[in-house]
Amino acid sequence: MKRRASFLAAAAALLAGCASIPLPERDGVAIYRKKCGACHHPYAPVELKPEKWEKTLGEMARRAKLTQDEAARIRAYVEPDLVRPANSH
Ligand code: HEC
Repeated sequence: MKRRASFLAAAAALLAGCASIPLPERDGVAIYRKKCGACHHPYAPVELKPEKWEKTLGEMARRAKLTQDEAARIRAYVEPDLVRPANSH
C-alpha cells in the first residue's frame, strides 16, 4: 500500500516533467529496451501523443531494422497506453 502510494507520487512528479518517465514493466519491455533504446533513451509510451506514435512507430521500426514479428511485439507493447481519454479531442 505504502509503496504504491509513493510510486504514484513519483509518477505524478515525472509526468509534471521533472525527469524521464519509467517504462511500464509488461510483456515486451525487454525487446523494447533493446531495440528502441539503442540510439536514444527508450521513450515511454505516454511520452508521445497517440497520433505522434502512429507516425513515429513505422519510421523507427525501419531505423531499428525490426522484423515483422519484432515490430508487432513492439507495437503491442506500446499500444495499451495509447488510449485517448474519451472526452479529449
Ligand atoms: C538507428 C537508431 C534508432 C533506433 C534503433 C530507434 N530510433 Fe527512435 N529515433 C532515432 C532518431 C535519430 C530520432 C530523431 C531524434 C530527433 O529527431 O529528435 C528518433 C526519435 C524517436 C522518437 C521521438 C519522436 C519525436 O518526434 O518526438 C521516438 C518516440 C522514437 N524515436 C521511438 C523509437 C522506437 C519505438 C524505436 C524502436 C522500434 C526506436 N525509436 C528505435 C533513432 C533511432
